[in-house]
Amino acid sequence: MLSLPRTLEWRDGKLAFIDQTKLPEQLVYVETEDWERVAKAIKSMEIRGAPAIGVAAAYALALFAYHSTVDSLERFLEELDRVAGALKRTRPTAVNLFWAVDRVVAAAKSATSVDDARRRVIEEAKRIHFEDEQANRRIGEIGEHLIGDGDTVITVCNAGSLATSYWGTATAPMYVARERGKKFRVIALETRPFLQGARLTAWELSQAGIEVVVATDNSIGILAEKERIDLALVGADRITRLGYVANKLGTYPLALVARVHNIPFYVAAPTSTIDMRSAGPGDFEIEKRDPSEVLYIKGYRIAPEGVTAIYYAFDITPPQLVTGIITEKGIIYPPYEKNIPRTLGLSNF
Ligand code: MRU
Repeated sequence: MLSLPRTLEWRDGKLAFIDQTKLPEQLVYVETEDWERVAKAIKSMEIRGAPAIGVAAAYALALFAYHSTVDSLERFLEELDRVAGALKRTRPTAVNLFWAVDRVVAAAKSATSVDDARRRVIEEAKRIHFEDEQANRRIGEIGEHLIGDGDTVITVCNAGSLATSYWGTATAPMYVARERGKKFRVIALETRPFLQGARLTAWELSQAGIEVVVATDNSIGILAEKERIDLALVGADRITRLGYVANKLGTYPLALVARVHNIPFYVAAPTSTIDMRSAGPGDFEIEKRDPSEVLYIKGYRIAPEGVTAIYYAFDITPPQLVTGIITEKGIIYPPYEKNIPRTLGLSNF
């Protein structure tokens, strides 16, 4: 039976999380009682990956609730809103963050006392964590048939267990396929500049006994030509109601190459990643991070002094390049503007 390290763990008033900036050299857990430490971890990408960010933010609210000493419900709700606002300012693109924070705050709003509100916040955070793991397992079971014995699968970034509560999204079908005895190879694009592919995906898949090779991001074209790739499988930070997919830098070029080479291009994401308020690329923010992450590698400057870098942390793949979206409610196929609301059970779209 597969045993992956837990990305996040609630320990009765404390949150333990893997510091993903230290992988693959060290597997280090940080334990904290402080919601601001969790906010800092999301911003600095010690915790990263859309579902994991959402769960961590929910637990940050739970830490606040657990340790808060205010005794009026009104004050408690005011402070909870302030903490929610601070958490929402950590990273802009992954919609799971906003979804999870809003869900926890809404749970507190119907409380009848401070103690009731505290209990509701903590319970809601635990529920979000549990549901994410269940959803990812379903994604694995639903998507597993897409991976054949002997296949080569290509992925970008880390949409793995580390990026979620457990199982990952893009990796969930891989783990289920592995459980069912299939042998296949995964090409992990290294994912400059944060190297989630080389550091994290290569680490977690190899730990699980799945064959994985790392390739540079700029080799997608020649890989499609020479390596007989059967499937491209990626995660998402936000999927709009029309099927635009925001995901880590390099996803869109991968989708373009996949289309030219007739490689099926699937996105795996829980429905908590679908943003029905956004239609197209202009409706939400794409995170721009500090150019120094591009200009330096492990503290060593690789570009001339005086030159800066352009660094969007995500790109947006248009719906016409997406073969299907694997969710816990089934695989959504085009036309997305019709089938996304239908899968979510929304009739008014
Ligand atoms: O900047 P990151 O590392 O948080 O970006 C992560 C990704 O782009 C993932 O593919 C996405 O969040 C899905 S994780 C299941």
